[in-house]
Amino acid sequence: MDKLVKKIINLKEKKNAVILAHFYQKGEIQDIADFVGDSLALAQWASKTKADIIVVCGVHFMGETAKILSPDKKVLIPDLEAGCSLADSCPADDFKKFVEKHPDHTVISYVNTTAAVKTVTDIVVTSTNAKEIVDSLPKDEKIIFGPDKNLGNYINSVTGRNMILWDGACHVHEQFSVEKILELKKEYPNAELIAHPECKNTIIKLADFVGSTSALLKHALSSSKKEFIVATESGILHQMTQKAPDKKFIPAPPNDSTCACNECKYMRLNTLEKLYHCLENESPEIKIEPKIIEKAVKPIQKMLDLSEMLGL
Ligand code: 13P
Ligand code: SF4
Repeated sequence: MDKLVKKIINLKEKKNAVILAHFYQKGEIQDIADFVGDSLALAQWASKTKADIIVVCGVHFMGETAKILSPDKKVLIPDLEAGCSLADSCPADDFKKFVEKHPDHTVISYVNTTAAVKTVTDIVVTSTNAKEIVDSLPKDEKIIFGPDKNLGNYINSVTGRNMILWDGACHVHEQFSVEKILELKKEYPNAELIAHPECKNTIIKLADFVGSTSALLKHALSSSKKEFIVATESGILHQMTQKAPDKKFIPAPPNDSTCACNECKYMRLNTLEKLYHCLENESPEIKIEPKIIEKAVKPIQKMLDLSEMLGL
């Protein structure tokens, strides 16, 4: 075993820490983690763990969600600069004004938001439960949805709703090129195109299957197809190739082939070195004011309760 990996495992055991990693993390971080999952699974694990320290190998909003759900625990993140372009596209003050303009609306926010945005939210959702949670609300309920317009449009299309959408997007999922995907489809005529709902609707319309990271993984494993063009952050290919080594997974290309834009630059800030130092120094730590936690926990807990009720 690699020396650094050994040191991380020893420290983790000594400090009764748990390492949670998102599917977009570098392969070596996914391999060392206690749990690897999508945003909903990370929140569910963070709310249940008995560990004293939770290390979130993901981006800042995922660390915040863990802290909000386990405020008495120490929540660490290997690199505090690991943000999210989608969360950044929704400043809390502007979102608050947007919410105030629609007083008779239920506010649904994607988990990819800051804790401050969650304080003015009624229900948080992830891409795993958004459709089911929206479907569970009365048909005539007026809803505003933020911040991802692509996910919002997709949920509107599959639920027949007319939610009012915030105009935000993720820099990774906006970059996929329809032209290059069509070229790939010619090269691999039997491949299925599988896409995350944060992709633009031109990609969604072409896709054979649309789902969250965990849904894409599950589908790729259970499908009888052998080749897949994967339109989401390319970190997910680590689990796909590990779990189905006989299948071929092709990362969907971005518009600019020189930019590696199908990698989330924030997710990739975390490294094994930083993970080791963060466990050793118990820093950087996610800190949130108690009055923000008190408000932000309500829509997140609502999501967890609804997800449990809906069997998600
Ligand atoms: P999932 O909840 O599907 O893992 O998505 C998280 C994310 O950040 C997508 O860009
Ligand atoms: Fe945010 Fe996009 Fe990175 Fe996901 S892939 S964490 S939405 S910037």
